[in-house]
Amino acid sequence: MQYRTLGRTGLEVSLMSYGSGGPSRLGQGTGLTDAEQEALVRRCLDLGVNLIDSSANYGDSEEILGRCLDGVPRDAFYMATKWSPHADGRVKEDPEDLVRSVDSSLRRLRIDVIDVMQFHGVTPNIYDEVVERHHPTMRRLQESGKIRFVGITEMFFQDPDHSMLTRALTEHPGHWDTVMLKYGILNQYAAKETLPLAAQHDVGVMNMASVRVKLTRPDQLEELMREWRDRELISADALTEANPLDWLVSGAVDSVVSAGYRFAADHPAISTVITGTSRIPNLETNNAALDDPTLPAADKRRLQELFGDLAEGA
Ligand SMILES: NC(=O)c1ccc[n+]([C@@H]2O[C@H](COP(=O)([O-])OP(=O)(O)OC[C@H]3O[C@@H](n4cnc5c(N)ncnc54)[C@H](OP(=O)(O)O)[C@@H]3O)[C@@H](O)[C@H]2O)c1
Repeated sequence: MQYRTLGRTGLEVSLMSYGSGGPSRLGQGTGLTDAEQEALVRRCLDLGVNLIDSSANYGDSEEILGRCLDGVPRDAFYMATKWSPHADGRVKEDPEDLVRSVDSSLRRLRIDVIDVMQFHGVTPNIYDEVVERHHPTMRRLQESGKIRFVGITEMFFQDPDHSMLTRALTEHPGHWDTVMLKYGILNQYAAKETLPLAAQHDVGVMNMASVRVKLTRPDQLEELMREWRDRELISADALTEANPLDWLVSGAVDSVVSAGYRFAADHPAISTVITGTSRIPNLETNNAALDDPTLPAADKRRLQELFGDLAEGA
């Protein structure tokens, strides 16, 4: 496992981190038993994963993690979790809601301190209100010792060009120790402005959902490429109709998904790539991909030429 520094937090985090959200939600979405969930989390730790991401909003993920990590030395992992500052499209009014959420997360996770506490899924239209109303409470929680660092995460499909994070890093870089965004083969926008800003201000970047779901589902990938061809965003003869990205599979790159994880890590501003798999074989494959997190230079260049100005959902 490779380790990178999570920006100004100074935490040395595993390049592959584990996410208990996404479609699989630590097996809540794929029907894992308690024992299988425990085996998955233990395999993460065995592989050297030391950063785990959760949220009060991921079903029972925090409780499951609390159970699976019971007895694991606290210095073996860093825990990142989140609180959603909005409900029904409006910013929550009561700052104590965040305090109560942190207390509940600590209880469910069976820990004394959250390493990275994040505002979950902030859209550009509510950013100012979230900062004004709720950021001071994050500082209070830091002073009380319940959380160590403060982060913010985006709502990718509502903000594919990362305008919320670009503003956050331009207007309030001191507020954010970490940001969580989506950067991958089919979502390269962040490389234009957001990732350079994060590097400039020494803000740690957690890369989320980098292969979900088009790279893991060939039918959906083909459909997206068809759509981009029809909209003349890529040229008609740029890629084959079937298995359009299979040219990436060669040598050490054993699948399109592996190529996706390698690309996701191959930027100097990225501190960690979160994988949200619920299957140990997939976890091991993803780990192998991130053990050598680069693509051949010509393939990377071709991906940048093909998709550098595009994003899913844009
Ligand atoms: N706004 C936010 O704050 C936000 C939004 C999204 C995500 N996140 C965080 O980021 C984490 C990562 O996102 P994600 O869960 O979407 O991650 P991801 O790893 O990009 O995608 C997970 C999906 O890919 C599949 N998959 C993973 N490895 C595979 C492989 N080798 N072969 C085939 N399929 C594979 C998984 O299915 P299997 O289970 O079958 O492997 C699952 O359906 C989340 O868990 C969450 O912690 C945060």
